[in-house]
Amino acid sequence: MPVGDIELLNMFEHVLRLSRVDETQSVAVLKSANSNPRLVWAAMEAGQKLGAKVYAVELPSFNHPSAMGFDLTGYVGETALTGHQAAKQALSAADLIVDTMLLLHSPEQSEILGGGSRMLLVVEPPEILARMLPTEEDKRRVQAGAKKLSAAKRFEVYSKAGTELLCRIGQYPTVTEYGFAEEPGRWDHWPSGFLFTWPDEGTAQGKIVIDTGDIIFPFKSYVQSPITLEIKDGYIRKFSGGFDAEYLENYMQTFRDPEVFAISHIGWGLQPKAQWSALGVYDKNDSVGIDGRAFYGGFLFSTGPNTEAGGTRNTACHMDIPLRRCDVLLDGEAMVRGGDIVPADQAVSDMKPAAQTLPERSCMR
Ligand SMILES: [Fe+2]
Repeated sequence: MPVGDIELLNMFEHVLRLSRVDETQSVAVLKSANSNPRLVWAAMEAGQKLGAKVYAVELPSFNHPSAMGFDLTGYVGETALTGHQAAKQALSAADLIVDTMLLLHSPEQSEILGGGSRMLLVVEPPEILARMLPTEEDKRRVQAGAKKLSAAKRFEVYSKAGTELLCRIGQYPTVTEYGFAEEPGRWDHWPSGFLFTWPDEGTAQGKIVIDTGDIIFPFKSYVQSPITLEIKDGYIRKFSGGFDAEYLENYMQTFRDPEVFAISHIGWGLQPKAQWSALGVYDKNDSVGIDGRAFYGGFLFSTGPNTEAGGTRNTACHMDIPLRRCDVLLDGEAMVRGGDIVPADQAVSDMKPAAQTLPERSCMR
């Protein structure tokens, strides 16, 4: 349902406060032709209400000749900021950048963050921003998971559908997303609520079964028949299944780059307000699909680049694939069991069990 201007402004004020914006701060609002003007307006107004020095940086449209579709997560790495030193300097001068155009996975974003600027991505429509307005509780829950993930050395995933994935971790950092950016150099996304790391290079082994009902981004569709991915030494080596398997393999092959088949970030969702079912009630270009990526107890894996983590794999194809009903184990300790979050410090105290986590449908191992 529509969110009015007053509510939208109040929401931005709330999130900028969580991001420690005050009269000592400068806030740059990054925008382009694809930006939602209401989000740009609200970010500018809310920053001023908090006393910050606010300015906008507008970049021209960007389209890569080989990019397919309108989803900005479908072709990553190059953006309108690529090679644009003047704009990069203008953004680097800000304490906080509100990104309404989506710079994710660009080397320029990493350089700006390295200088100490904070960055908050805000591209979802106001209705989704309102439903998942971030809280300190979201941060606490995600940080509890990060404490475990950053200390672990072995990451395992299993499911009744047939997933058996094992990899070592620790080579790359743990990344948290909880919806606001309050520390120097921090990147976050409002709304959000999940955490992840990357497998050590060449260590991911086993198979992943993308089951009926699991989601593939940027397709933004539910899989209709299981897809089996055979993983060896960190890469997908074989696709098998029906039409869905053929379609996924064909799409990834269009990039003509063997690096697209690498396993990229792996982690689990901790946002109880994100809904697996949400994708069915939005048009594809309404949303980037944070619901599907962050729903509580989902196992999210991806393919392609690892430049966000400081790696050298800079490839344009990035698939995010959340799976339901998995077991996720760190050094043998269950973080997720059959789609249910296990550790008490990652639990949501007042949340009723969801249908997808009923015991009889759980994966009991
Ligand atoms: Fe991703």
